Amino acid sequence: MVGSQALVAYQRPDGRFYAYASPIDSYDTRLQEGRLSFSFSALSGTFVNSEMTIFASLQLTSGTVMINQVWQTGPLKGGTPAIHASTADHLTSLGTLDLINSDAT
Ligand code: HEM
Repeated sequence: MVGSQALVAYQRPDGRFYAYASPIDSYDTRLQEGRLSFSFSALSGTFVNSEMTIFASLQLTSGTVMINQVWQTGPLKGGTPAIHASTADHLTSLGTLDLINSDAT
């Protein structure tokens, strides 16, 4: 959704794995690479048994207790990410991460 600070990963046509950051500022996005509103390091990913996992260390503002989290999966079109499906599971892929109580809702 607009406002998301996305970490994206996909396999390029030449087989290379590509993990990068993309701030989503409009629904016209093609998930172009860009700067997020927070710093991060050690961005990487794996693609094993058709399952993709993205890793990164996020540098959070001091005092951050709760994080709104979204996740998504979608197709590639012409080699770049295209819009995801809008069935219920794609529109409810969000939650709140409680950094103090390690409790996800
Ligand atoms: C090509 C990139 C993308 C496009 C064009 C796109 C477009 C859209 C559109 C049109 C909606 C429906 C909006 C509404 O119902 O008001 C939506 C919903 C949503 N998208 Fe995306 N999206 C993209 C990428 C992403 C990514 C990368 C994520 C997460 C990392 C994401 C997470 C969500 C979620 C959680 C919703 C449902 C919540 C909501 O509607 O506010 N989307 N997206």
